[in-house]
This record gives sequence, structure tokens and C-alpha cells, in this order.
Amino acid sequence: MALLDLLVLNRRTATDARTGTSVPVLSDACVVKTCLREIQVTTRSACDLGDVPACNSGAGDLYRGADAYGFLLRLATGLESEIAGETEIFGQIKQAWRDYETARPENARRLRPWMQRLLQETKEIRSEYIVGLGSATYGSLTRRLLGGRAEGTTLLVGAGQLAATILPYLDSPDLRIYNRSPARAFEMLKAARERDATYKITVLEPTLEAELAAWREAHDVVLCVPADPERDPARVAAWREHAAARGGRILHLGILGTAGTAWDGAARLATLEQLFGMRDAQAEQRDALLLRARRACLGKAQLAKLDDADGSRPGTSNHGWEDLAVFQALGS
Ligand SMILES: NC(=O)c1ccc[n+]([C@@H]2O[C@H](COP(=O)([O-])OP(=O)(O)OC[C@H]3O[C@@H](n4cnc5c(N)ncnc54)[C@H](OP(=O)(O)O)[C@@H]3O)[C@@H](O)[C@H]2O)c1
Repeated sequence: MALLDLLVLNRRTATDARTGTSVPVLSDACVVKTCLREIQVTTRSACDLGDVPACNSGAGDLYRGADAYGFLLRLATGLESEIAGETEIFGQIKQAWRDYETARPENARRLRPWMQRLLQETKEIRSEYIVGLGSATYGSLTRRLLGGRAEGTTLLVGAGQLAATILPYLDSPDLRIYNRSPARAFEMLKAARERDATYKITVLEPTLEAELAAWREAHDVVLCVPADPERDPARVAAWREHAAARGGRILHLGILGTAGTAWDGAARLATLEQLFGMRDAQAEQRDALLLRARRACLGKAQLAKLDDADGSRPGTSNHGWEDLAVFQALGS
């Protein structure tokens, strides 16, 4: 099948507002449904051309030929998704294609070389530009700021919302939690153990002595509590006692910066300011990679137009949809 014959309709919503039912537009189409859109892929020969004018009257965006292939590449690589680069859409395309091959084997035979090419080129674009994008959550940024697996004890101060989201990202052979109310720390610990029973965590006594002893032993400390003018000078002093010999870091997520606090001048301390700085730097890298991935989709669609008529690529073997599982895993 020539590329010129490829037709793709992208509809932001798949539901007719009046009837609440899905209205098919292109006949004999492979339909991919997501929560935000419905994509119909078919061939000009399968599609009743009488359908096409309807597509241009507000029913969705209709792409033909290389534009259709370029759109499919952006879709399959996750570049059209709300969270750019996500991999969920792969599973949806794969399932839709399987269903279509069973229901419409004749039309699927014509589309297959282009779908296989789509798979191969999606894989190339994902592995080159998208797999390393990384996520930007408090947990993932904390892990990056601490530099991966801790060399010794990690002390987590706090057991509120923020501490609970960070806990799964703390990779330490000896994790200790201090919280003013131990009941809340045990609650957080229970939830963490339900996710992963191998957690080795100690909840400390709710006394100043127990907290300061842990400060003296810890390699890294993560604070998820507000600044505390009464207790902070003692924490800083305890950190100073051992910081020079031990290394490690403090990450204080309860303060934006250190100015005017007891933490001013503390060694190897990062605050929300550094965490947000890392997030912004990561966002810039991410945007640059996504832009390059979009350009790669465009380039491959243009090459598809130039280099052959049936979807196969000279000098490459096409891959089965089963390969998607491999790069779904790579992208997660
Ligand atoms: N949630 C976020 O997304 C987020 C993002 C950035 C920064 N932060 C900052 O992180 C800190 C914690 O936020 P959160 O959302 O986890 O709040 P949270 O759910 O209300 O938890 C507050 C935590 O701080 C402790 N705490 C509060 N006041 C204290 C005090 N006077 N002395 C000792 N401990 C005290 C609480 O201990 P008890 O359990 O004993 O009450 C609890 O562990 C805040 O400073 C917040 O501004 C939060």
C-alpha cells in the first residue's frame, strides 16, 4: 500500500455530545481509544471517500500520507500525550492493532507494513530521545540530590504528606524516621511495608536525645518538617560534630533557602531552592529532547514519503508487536 493511501483521523473526543455514543467516521478503520481522543487509521481504498468531507467539518483532524504517518509516530512515541513521552499509549495502539487484525484481516494486510515500520521507528526515536527523560517528582529529585544509594544511615525527619511521598525513593541500608508524633511515623511505615515488605526502617523515640543521636550517626538527613527555631540550632550542632569526617548531605524540604535560619552556613545542605533548580534544569533538558524527538518524527515521515511505496524499509527487518513489551519496559 502506498503511503499516499494512509488516512488517519484524530478526534479529541470520541463521544457524540448529544447521544453519549461513539460515532465512527472512517469506515474499516483501526480505532485506538484513549481517555482524551479516538484515533482512526485506515486506507483510502477501504474508506468510503464520502466519509472524508465529514472529517473536515469539525469531527476531527484528518491526516493523509506522510502527514498521517508523522502523526502516528508522534502518537506512538507519546509526544501527543498530555504527559509527553509516556508509554501507556503503546499498549493501547498494540491492543487496537491486534483487535483490528482479527476483525479486518483484509484491510490489516494492507496496513501491516506501515504499522510495522511505525513500530520500528517509534523504537528508534524512543531509545534515542525519550527513554532518558526522567520524571520530576519530589521523590525522584530527592534521590538525585542525595546521589543514589546511601553509604550509611539515612534519617528522615517528619511523617506528613511530603515525607510519605519521599520515603519510597530513599535507598538506604539503614533508614530511621523521627517524627514528633510516632503514631504518624508508624502509619507511614505500615503503608510503605504494604508496598514493599523488605523495608528495613526504624521509628525513633519522640525525644530530642533520640533525634540528635540519629543526626550524629546519619550519613544523609532529609527534613520534611517546617523550620523550627527552637530545635534547629541543636540539629545544626549535631550535624557539625560529625559532618567533616562523615560526608553525606542534608536536604531540608521545609525551607526554601537558609537566609535568616539556623541552617545558614551548614555544610553540604540543600533546600527547596536547589531542588527546584534541579527540576528547572531537568525541564530544559527534557524540552530540548522532546523537540529533537518531534523533529525525528517529521524527518522519518519525510523519508517514508521518499524511499518506498509499501512501508518496508530498505536494509531493515520489520518487528512484531511483541517487541513493544520490551520498550514499554525500557520507557517506564
Ligand atoms: N506537601 C508538599 O508537597 C510540600 C512540598 C514542598 C515543601 N513542603 C514543606 O514540607 C513540610 C512538611 O509538609 P507536609 O506537606 O508533609 O505537611 P504535613 O502533612 O502537615 O506534615 C507536617 C510534618 O511536619 C511535622 N511538624 C509540623 N510542625 C511541627 C513542629 N512545630 N515541630 C515538629 N514537627 C512538626 C509534622 O509532625 P506531626 O506528624 O507530629 O504533626 C509532620 O511530620 C512543610 O514545611 C511544607 O511547607 C511540602
